[in-house]
Parts: sequence; structure tokens; C-alpha cells
Amino acid sequence: MNQTVIIFERVSKSYPFYSHMTAGLKKFLLTLPSSLRELRNRHFEALRDVSFEVYKGETFGIIGKNGAGKSTILGLIAGVIKPTKGKITVRGKVYPLLELGAGFHKELTGRENIILNGVLMGMTRKEVMKKMDSIIEFSELGEFIDQPLRTYSSGMVARLAFSVVAHLDPDILLIDEVLAVGDVNFQKKCLKKMKEFKDKGVTMIFVSHSIEEIRSVCDRVMWIDNHTIREMGKTEEVLEKYICDSAKVFTESSP
Ligand SMILES: Nc1ncnc2c1ncn2[C@@H]1O[C@H](COP(=O)(O)OP(=O)(O)O)[C@@H](O)[C@H]1O
Ligand SMILES: [Mg+2]
Repeated sequence: MNQTVIIFERVSKSYPFYSHMTAGLKKFLLTLPSSLRELRNRHFEALRDVSFEVYKGETFGIIGKNGAGKSTILGLIAGVIKPTKGKITVRGKVYPLLELGAGFHKELTGRENIILNGVLMGMTRKEVMKKMDSIIEFSELGEFIDQPLRTYSSGMVARLAFSVVAHLDPDILLIDEVLAVGDVNFQKKCLKKMKEFKDKGVTMIFVSHSIEEIRSVCDRVMWIDNHTIREMGKTEEVLEKYICDSAKVFTESSP
């Protein structure tokens, strides 16, 4: 019955470790041959042995501290980075709303960036032009739409990015903390749009630090801690453990 659209099987991702360089360039140079040998052999695991499945039409939340590995998971789903170990299966067209402004050009105006992004995401120029007014209206950027992107605040870039996506027809949508930089009204509008996507059967992976946002849209949640899965399950159950853990850390660190 439940069709899986994303499958991670024992996925790990590591990066070369550059501690030697940061520990001191002089020492590094003095012991160059052994330093280089050691450098090549050391790796930093951004993600360790992660297995999970996401079903079609599900809104799947990912929570966890900064640096836990959440964006790495989205990057792997989008295919912008490759796993070091394990297997990833993704069925359907993925639209990533990843790092702010990725896919945007600073010297182009908002309007020109809408065309660029729409085309990059698979629309024809004609299709983009047909949706242009509606995209601009959704963004509420007003006359800024004809100003170059370098004059935009991060919240305005987020508005533009989300407005383009809101007019696409994705199978899988990845949202990485984009709403955080927007104002409250725009966040509400985005959440409403996400609920519409959900009704249409779009699968969404949603990374957020906002417990309220996660609670209001997610069917299931995965908690990433220390580069691996700590908990995964129904939204309320995972959130309860997460909140409890955060409270514990808070009281432990208080005098
Ligand atoms: N290109 C990279 N090279 C080296 N380390 C990286 C790279 N990208 C991410 N990392 C490291 O991987 C870990 C997980 O990062 P990330 O997935 O961005 O965390 P999160 O999104 O949960 O804040 C972090 O410790 C980060 O420093
Ligand atoms: Mg991140």
C-alpha cells in the first residue's frame, strides 16, 4: 500500500579531516610527510549508518542540533553530494529548497531570477511567464522585484525562493530551514502552501528548529543527534523526547 519514495540503507558520509592544518601550520610543515600521510587517512563522519524510508505523500520532519547532519541528509537526497557508504534510492523529481539563494544570481533582478529558477527547475520560459504575476504576488516583494538580488535581505531571498517553488509541481520537496529567516506572516503563508502540497500528495522533507512548525505539518519525525538517528517515529512521540532532552541539557548547564 505505502509506496516508498526515499530509501536510505546504512548511509554514511565522511569528509577529510583537516585538524592538522588548524592545529598549527608550522608544525604541519615541519612534519610534512607524516602530516600528509595522517591527513589522508583521517576522516570526519558527518553522517553515520543512517537507515530510513519515506512514504509517498508523507511530510517527514528532521530535527536536531546545529551540525548534527540534517542538511547532509537533504544534500544526499537531492544528489548534490554522494554517500561514502550505503545506498540511497529516490523515486520522483526532487525540488530542493536548500541553502539560501542557491541557484540565484546576485546581479539579476528578482524577476530575472524567477525566470532562471523556473527554467532550472524544469519549466519552459513560456510557463514561467504565465505564472510570473502570481509568483510576484505570492512573494509580496512589490517594486523590489525589479531590483538586483544583492539589495535583498535574506528574508526577501527566502520569499522569492519559496514563491517559485509554490508554483511548481514537485514530487518531492526538500525544505531546509528556509522559513526561519522569513517574517511571521510569510511563515504562515508557507505553512499553508505546504498543507496544500500535502493535500495534493507531494512528499516533503522538512528541516526546522521550530517545534510548532514541525508539529503543525509533519506526520513523522526523525531526530538526528551526533551524526546518526537518535529517534524516529510519530511526530508527538519524538518531539516529546526531544523537548525533554533539551530541557535536561538546559537544567544541567544552569548554575
Ligand atoms: N563540505 C563539508 N566538508 C567538511 N565537513 C562538512 C561539510 N559539510 C558539512 N560538514 C560537517 O558535517 C556536519 C554536519 O553538517 P550539516 O549536515 O550541515 O549539519 P546540520 O544541517 O544538522 O546543522 C557538521 O559538523 C559540518 O561541519
Ligand atoms: Mg543545516
